[in-house]
Amino acid sequence: MRVAVIGTGYVGLTTAVSLAMNGHDVLGIDLVEAKIVQLQKGKSPIYEPGLEEALALVLKRGNLEFTTNIADAREAEILFVCVGTPESADGTADLSYVYAAASDVEALHRSAPRKRVVVIKSTVPVGTGDRIAEKLRELDGLHVVSNPEFLREGNALEDALHPSRIVIGTAHEAAAETMEQLYQGVNAPRVATTRANAELIKYASNAFLATRISFMNELARLSGALGTDIVTVALGMGLDSRIGPEFLRAGVGYGGSCFPKDTIALLQLAHQNGISMSILEKVREVNATQPIWFLEQLHKRQGNVAGKKIAVLGLAFKPETDDIREAPSLKILEALQNAGATVAAYDPIAAQVVRPLFPQVEYVGNPAEAFKGAHAALLITEWKECIHLDWEAIKSDMAVPLLLDGRNAWPSQSLKDAGFDYTGVGRS
Ligand code: UDX
Repeated sequence: MRVAVIGTGYVGLTTAVSLAMNGHDVLGIDLVEAKIVQLQKGKSPIYEPGLEEALALVLKRGNLEFTTNIADAREAEILFVCVGTPESADGTADLSYVYAAASDVEALHRSAPRKRVVVIKSTVPVGTGDRIAEKLRELDGLHVVSNPEFLREGNALEDALHPSRIVIGTAHEAAAETMEQLYQGVNAPRVATTRANAELIKYASNAFLATRISFMNELARLSGALGTDIVTVALGMGLDSRIGPEFLRAGVGYGGSCFPKDTIALLQLAHQNGISMSILEKVREVNATQPIWFLEQLHKRQGNVAGKKIAVLGLAFKPETDDIREAPSLKILEALQNAGATVAAYDPIAAQVVRPLFPQVEYVGNPAEAFKGAHAALLITEWKECIHLDWEAIKSDMAVPLLLDGRNAWPSQSLKDAGFDYTGVGRS
């Protein structure tokens, strides 16, 4: 099928590449010319495992092209809207890019009418799809479908090619059929529903996942006080099929572009509708305080850290990405700096993005360097490079062998046996 994707950010680019991999003829559209020029040469503006290789393949096969001009999409029967919906000053989702894309589609349709489906993939508040449909109502042959994405950074292409589910929000039978044709051959359960339900499924999923994490983080605080082991507790909980094992990992808090933005947007949506979502408010509160709670563990052991060297391992909000949006590391670096510590930080790819924000931090080229002379080391992102380490050498390199494992990813028992002072999140 002929498909156009408006917006070549995280979601748009991954969607475009995965559809092209599945044999569709795809046109990627973006306003930023420099980005389009790069993409035409096969260079991905974001780091995402496997994406650049897949991009090269579909460019070579001729399944994917890029343009800045939406008029080039006149043949497309499906137009995806994959533009950003960032957080506005009041926490609501900023829909200006979505509405601008809808206007572009409207202009295209007026100049070249044909049977078309507009698919809203951007995460938008409930009712947005209906409002866009209302705006485009008098245009013959144009239908609006909500089809949220659930892809995770670091795993985006895999998630797009093998989604957990495909949610199609439309009441229009022919539009639903077109979507079914598009996803033919993709083996995933379907949820065929209204646009509004589809939109809420996206927010509810992210808010629920964030809730699991904050629940585990708060439980970890108790577990730390009780001397119990949160990792074992999570294992025991996760074996109950009603709970399941995923997203029970306590840590320094969630970050990224989705959970923080989508939880506040859902809260605002609730507020606008006269509903208070107090659980979700607490979820955000626990997450905001988790990095600070974690640092208290350092202060309990080291007292004043002024003038002391602290190693920070991992800066990205999670492994396999260079994304630092809302990363817990940023709060941790700021607090360490305010406390007068000398910080040496390592991240395999995100260091260069953090450097302009914290120019006083020393960014080292490998983890071993960070540990040298350190009075404590903090694991903030569980990159494999930060986990599989030569602990014997590290032990003799550190000024004080104090390890604070913010992801419960270091081998706790063997480190304790080797003489380290080890503390995880909710485990000693
Ligand atoms: C998330 C959703 O998973 C995805 O479905 C949605 O489309 C976009 O938002 P993403 O933000 O890429 O994806 O990352 P995810 O893997 O969900 O992790 C989010 C944050 O939660 C990370 O900071 C991660 O470290 C943290 N996390 C995750 C935990 O602290 N504990 C866990 O058990 C799982």
